Amino acid sequence: MKIIESLAELRAWRKECHRQGQTVAFVPTMGNLHEGHIELVHNAHKHADLVITSIFVNPMQFGENEDLDAYPRTFEADCEKLTAANNHVVFYPSVAEMYPNGLKAQTLVSVPNSTAEHCAEATQRPGHFDGVATVVTKLFNMVQPDVALFGQKDYQQVRLVQALVRDLNMPIEIIPVPTVREESGLAKSSRNGYLTAQQKSIAPALFQALSLIKEQLEGGNFNTESLIESGLEFIEQAGLKPDYIEIRDTSHFEVIDENSKEAVILVAAFLGKARLIDNLTVQL
Ligand code: PAJ
Repeated sequence: MKIIESLAELRAWRKECHRQGQTVAFVPTMGNLHEGHIELVHNAHKHADLVITSIFVNPMQFGENEDLDAYPRTFEADCEKLTAANNHVVFYPSVAEMYPNGLKAQTLVSVPNSTAEHCAEATQRPGHFDGVATVVTKLFNMVQPDVALFGQKDYQQVRLVQALVRDLNMPIEIIPVPTVREESGLAKSSRNGYLTAQQKSIAPALFQALSLIKEQLEGGNFNTESLIESGLEFIEQAGLKPDYIEIRDTSHFEVIDENSKEAVILVAAFLGKARLIDNLTVQL
């Protein structure tokens, strides 16, 4: 597996792919790879000749009081997992390579019309989605992939990237990949590594709350306010500190009504040092 750290080398590699007529699938990550990330790599193989994964902990998408410094960096173990998944290239740039003029002098990409900006995740993490949109735009311009894969675990992120490529006419197909979970239902996440064994045993309450609400919606109970309230209570009783639960129509991202065909239930909660997010979509 090839490891590329500089943009110049990446461009040379990409030129060679073009010359040889090989298509490229791209999996952007922040490293500390787990089975969720590797599932993206497996899927990527189905869509192109070559798979490139980036590992870059993007400072621009972390808030001041968030876990940028503590974010786990496990490059060697990541490379072993990627090699086992037949990943072809790892793009592993430094912060200076990505932001040569510093973060403050950086052009910002903002996607105000994406659903991401209308959800609690955006209000709870100001600047986060601009940081994601900016780094994804930069990575897309650097890698120039034919397709790029994103996990549905970060529901708003997928919607944001879909809006980004549509609005900026980027010739890149975005492929969403279903969330990989532990047997307990807990969505795999790099941030699960912050949990103690005891916390890990209560973390599945997030998925359980989502499942309970999903069942109610499928049974025709559209009283979203009371569904949200009981979901929040369920999470709190399990021992987590709920941040929000939202139930939205996936077509316009407003509250659901009798015409809604599909909803998404979104949840975030704090557990010890970790802030966990998850979501489930429901056919109505
Ligand atoms: P990161 O959190 O490392 O996630 C990288 C990709 O893996 C994202 O598309 C995410 O949705 C996906 N992923 C994470 N856990 C998953 C799971 N349990 N099942 C399926 N997919 C999962 O998301 C980011 O990094 C960053 O915001 C990034 C897009 C790289 C921009 O910096």
